[in-house]
Amino acid sequence: MGEPVQIPPEKMPQHVAMIMDGNGRWALSRGKPRLAGHRAGTENLRRVIRASVEFGVKYLTIYAFSTENWGRPPAEVKGLMHIFENVIDKELDELHEEGVQLRHIGRLEKLTKKLRKKVLDAVELTKDNNRLILNIAFNYGGRDEIVYAIQKMLKDGISTEEVNIELISQYLFTAGTPDPDLVIRTSGELRTSNFLIWQSAYSEWYVTPTFWPDFDREEYAKALAIYAQRDRRFGGVSEEYYE
Ligand code: FPP
Repeated sequence: MGEPVQIPPEKMPQHVAMIMDGNGRWALSRGKPRLAGHRAGTENLRRVIRASVEFGVKYLTIYAFSTENWGRPPAEVKGLMHIFENVIDKELDELHEEGVQLRHIGRLEKLTKKLRKKVLDAVELTKDNNRLILNIAFNYGGRDEIVYAIQKMLKDGISTEEVNIELISQYLFTAGTPDPDLVIRTSGELRTSNFLIWQSAYSEWYVTPTFWPDFDREEYAKALAIYAQRDRRFGGVSEEYYE
C-alpha cells in the first residue's frame, strides 16, 4: 500500500468507470504478442480493484469487451474469452471474501454456455456483498444497450407519455447504479468508444497517456485528486455566481 489518499469523503467519486485501453500497444512496445498485453492488463485490473476498495470507491465499472471487439482477430477474441473465464476461476473467492459484488452489463447471449454459467454463478454468489460493486462490461455497447432498452419498453407496453429520462435509465443494464462521476481512459485516446454513452452525460473525464497495464495506484490516486478539484455544475452555474 502506498501513501493514503487525502480526499474529503464528499469530494470522492461514488462511481468510477474505466476504459482499460492500451494493452496492445503496451505489448507491442515490448515486442510481445497482444494477448500478453491483455494478461498484463488483467494483473493490473486486480490491483485497481484492490485500490478501489482501499480508496472507498463504491462502484467500479470496467470496459472489458465491447460489442465491436468481435471484429478483432479470432485468436484475440478467444483469448479475451479465456481471460474472463480465468479471472472468475482464479479471483472469485478472494473478491467474494473482500466484499466485492460482481455484476455483468452487456449481453450474455453470445458467450459460450460455460462462460455464461460462470458469470451468472459469480453474480449470484456475490449478490449480497456491498463493499464495492464491480460492473464488468463484457459484450457491452452503449448503443446496443439503448436498443435493448427500447425493445424491452415496447414489449412491456410502455406508453409514449410514460417515457422519460428516469424510465429509460431503469431499462438500461446499469439500472439502480448511479451514473459514473468519473470516467478514466488510459492510453490517450479522446473518445467514448460506445462506453456508457447515456450514463456519462455529466461525468468528469480523466484521460492519461499511460497504457492500461501501467496505470498504477499512484496514478489512480492522482485521477481522484484531480476529480476532487473539479467544479461539477451539471449545466448550471456555480453558487458564487448567484446574485
Ligand atoms: C483495450 O486495449 C483493451 C481491451 C479491449 C480488453 C481489456 C481487457 C482486460 C484489461 C483484461 C481484463 C478482462 C476481463 C474480462 C475482466 P487494446 O487492446 O485495444 O489496446 P491497443 O489500443 O493498444 O491495441
